[in-house]
Amino acid sequence: MMETSFAQYASGLMPPVINLGSLERIPPGEGREFEVNGELIAVFRPRKGTLYALQAQCPHKAGHLADGFTGGGVVVCPLHAFKFELASGAPVGNDCPALQTYPVSVSEDGEILLALSSTLQEGQRLPCLI
Ligand code: FES
Repeated sequence: MMETSFAQYASGLMPPVINLGSLERIPPGEGREFEVNGELIAVFRPRKGTLYALQAQCPHKAGHLADGFTGGGVVVCPLHAFKFELASGAPVGNDCPALQTYPVSVSEDGEILLALSSTLQEGQRLPCLI
């Protein structure tokens, strides 16, 4: 694992990392929503593999994606069943823009670590025009 120094954070070379608490907060196969610096972020814990962190609200009508079903690498929005890839945030079978994604990992002692670096720049998050 790569060590990150305070100097790297202070220089702006590394995004801030937020500890969201124990991995046990998210049951296997489910997602949970976290508020981080005023932003809602959904973290999903598939039964197999890695964690995924995405913008929490669907770009269609703001459905809370953490309440949706997951499986086959996608999350299904609980409001109108639009699908998005967990890994990339890309829409599946709909014309919504991709979800914002965030780097997320689990520390050696089982804590969820979220990096606030996102796939989109400020102001790029778009609504779905459907
Ligand atoms: S709000 Fe998500 S599909 Fe409509």
